[in-house]
Amino acid sequence: MREVMTKSMARNIFYGGSLFFILIFVGLTAHSHRYIVTQSTDVAGLTESVKLGKHVWEKHACINCHTILGEGAYFAPELANVMTRWGVETSDEGYDALKNWMQSMPTGIEGRRQMPRFDLTEEEYRGLADFLLWTDAIRAQDWPPNDAG
Ligand code: HEC
Repeated sequence: MREVMTKSMARNIFYGGSLFFILIFVGLTAHSHRYIVTQSTDVAGLTESVKLGKHVWEKHACINCHTILGEGAYFAPELANVMTRWGVETSDEGYDALKNWMQSMPTGIEGRRQMPRFDLTEEEYRGLADFLLWTDAIRAQDWPPNDAG
């Protein structure tokens, strides 16, 4: 006897298969959302200073040269893990390290890849440092890798 797939069998495979993958998709979406909200993000540590830092980051378009968590431009180093690279743990250390780094940038040197000099207020340096520390603490499953340090 010849094996024939009837129209209703084909329809069942189509609907059954679609439903199966839709359920997997919905499940994975819910899982990702839960992971982001409860596991990877330090909601309690999202202080006003961190928020200010993010505004400074956006206002000065640091992302035009740098990546953060892999997003951005590849001209300059990744910054989501710069505090780890520098061995910085506290807000005060971060503030000192970042301010010293940013203020030691030369201006007007030709032929060398360099970072522009930004003149920020104390509060803005503090905010940027806190923002970079906060970002460093996101559990991104070791992404991006920190091989530079
Ligand atoms: C025009 C491009 C450009 C912009 C815009 C820029 N940077 Fe940079 N940045 C660089 C370059 C190039 C380096 C690497 C310089 C070097 O190693 O001498 C660097 C290095 C750094 C480092 C040290 C990284 C490390 O691994 O040691 C930090 C921190 C940093 N930038 C922060 C910032 C912040 C914060 C902003 C925004 C306020 C910013 N950068 C905007 C080009 C830029």
